[in-house]
Amino acid sequence: MKTLFYSRFFIILPWVLIVIIMIDVDTRSWSSSSRSPASPHRPHQHPPAFGHRLGRGARLLKPPAGGSSSGSGSSPPAALGNSKAAVVGLVNESVPLIYAITPTYSRPVQKAELTRLANTFRQVARLHWVLVEDSTRRTELVSRFVARAGLPCTHLHVPTPRRYKRAGLPRATEQRNAGLAWLRQQFQQRPRPRPPPAGVLFFADDDNTYSLELFHEMRTTRKVSVWPVGLVGGRRYERPIVENGKVVGWYTGWRADRPFAIDMAGFAVSLQVILANPKAVFKRRGSQPGMQESDFLKQITTVEELEPKADNCTKVLVWHTRTEKVNLANEPKYHVDTVKIEV
Ligand SMILES: *[C@@H]1O[C@H](CO)[C@@H](O)[C@H](O)[C@H]1NC(C)=O
Ligand SMILES: *[C@@H]1O[C@H](CO)[C@@H](O)[C@H](O)[C@H]1NC(C)=O
Repeated sequence: MKTLFYSRFFIILPWVLIVIIMIDVDTRSWSSSSRSPASPHRPHQHPPAFGHRLGRGARLLKPPAGGSSSGSGSSPPAALGNSKAAVVGLVNESVPLIYAITPTYSRPVQKAELTRLANTFRQVARLHWVLVEDSTRRTELVSRFVARAGLPCTHLHVPTPRRYKRAGLPRATEQRNAGLAWLRQQFQQRPRPRPPPAGVLFFADDDNTYSLELFHEMRTTRKVSVWPVGLVGGRRYERPIVENGKVVGWYTGWRADRPFAIDMAGFAVSLQVILANPKAVFKRRGSQPGMQESDFLKQITTVEELEPKADNCTKVLVWHTRTEKVNLANEPKYHVDTVKIEV
């Protein structure tokens, strides 16, 4: 009797397990797909959170309705509470929204750099942060950071192909292009006759230092605006040379023959120009190191059209600062700390 029971039991057991696993997998894939569809470029939207960690369910999955919502328009009301009034309510919706595209990659100083950047951006009205990780997936560190940043933020990721990860090759090309693609996608479904809302795009690397005045200057960009950049090109600063309110040349320490001898931190582009030139991207093919900016700007504007900002390009409002490489020589391999701490 007992052996009969056991033999039946062991025949049935695997089937029961299979059914349990199937049910589990099914519900899991259902619940994860309802939260974040499998598409690798699917962004996570974050409304301003002001330090409150948002639960998974509170993440915004719908893209902002046009540029005017600052990523907070379609969020569940409970998740926003007073912070919406604090950030969006006081802000004039017809003021151009600034989209800051920041490529970022995992390294010891990453969180410190992002913290510095968020502390700046949080003081800028109507700014939408597009953070693009060089990664095959959204890392936990950056996801946690974004959720607590207190900023309207879109978190994307795209890995740099291995063949491009070499010294001397331009960096962050794929990430900047992913940011551009996301931005264009936001306005694709709009009814054609309606013009897109006023907006300005700029590329904000995570190691630079930004004066708040810079955002004030770039916000009035009609097509493409330019300004000086400090601590770059082996000089104290580089700048567009301006005569009678027009850019006529470049004060630069490196390859002045570039059509646009300017650093990534030295220009902003209006949303209209980005949308009117849907093919303009950063190129890998045929692009020499240090020519990324020039190659990109060539596709969307001319030197004559550039709008000089910062008092006809006589003030430095952004610095190409670099963080010293950290010394981790004493980081233990074996007797590691008893707690796991994110740095
Ligand atoms: C909103 O901004 C626009 C453009 O900057 C300006 O013309 C308008 O007067 C502002 N409205 C309010 C209520 O501040
Ligand atoms: C820039 O230069 C032009 C032409 O010289 C002048 O009209 C304009 O007022 C200047 N702008 C600023 C902000 O100094």
